[in-house]
Amino acid sequence: MELLRTKNLTKVYQQGKHTVNALTDCNIRIEQGEFVAIMGPSGSGKSTLLHLLGALDKPTDGNVWFDGKDMYSLPAEELARIRRQEIGQVFQDFQLIPIMSAYENIITPVLLDKQKPEKEYVEALAERLQIKDRLHHFPAELSGGQKQRVAIARALLMQPKLILADEPTGNLDKESAEEVLNLFIQAVKEAGSTLIMITHDAAIAERAGRVLRIDNGRVTG
Ligand SMILES: Nc1ncnc2c1ncn2[C@@H]1O[C@H](COP(=O)(O)OP(=O)(O)O)[C@@H](O)[C@H]1O
Ligand SMILES: [Mg+2]
Repeated sequence: MELLRTKNLTKVYQQGKHTVNALTDCNIRIEQGEFVAIMGPSGSGKSTLLHLLGALDKPTDGNVWFDGKDMYSLPAEELARIRRQEIGQVFQDFQLIPIMSAYENIITPVLLDKQKPEKEYVEALAERLQIKDRLHHFPAELSGGQKQRVAIARALLMQPKLILADEPTGNLDKESAEEVLNLFIQAVKEAGSTLIMITHDAAIAERAGRVLRIDNGRVTG
């Protein structure tokens, strides 16, 4: 089943007198449950594409259908609900809240959605990501790999249809990158989510079902 489809998706940034064609006429289709890697040189439009697929930015032109819905034609409230409930994000720099424990960080999206977190489910997810014994630690007390596993648990807690990850292991050393990636892929699979991951690492891209290559704002393969 199709989860995402784009038609002539285009983003132009205006910077003073300068125009940057960050993404041009992107036409892609992604099935529910796929793991897709996005590769391309720095500045080629990878993050721009990821943001547009996750309704984190608005296209200059073109469409994104998410689960059959024309995302950028939806009322703002419905789009915000999709963002909260159906899309999880993992960033290179973790983006944990320093004054909150790992547990509190993980349940943040559930609280923002005005739901009650289920402690057992949080613990089961933490167990799967091997951070159960770290739930009451603060980010400063965690290693990089542990921080990213907390961020992954946070992204997965709502059981979103889509997980967007922008170089999620880019700040980790090789060994913990490998470990985090294995746990991440396994947890996404168990959740049945679709994973779209930007990476510079060919070995990581090899683990994906498919690689989208992007160059100078155009998808080339
Ligand atoms: N907010 C912005 N304003 C202006 N230009 C931007 C902005 N974000 C990205 N760009 C430009 O758009 C192009 C694509 O950027 P980006 O999608 O971040 O590339 P990548 O993630 O592949 O490194 C680059 O030329 C970048 O400088
Ligand atoms: Mg980027």
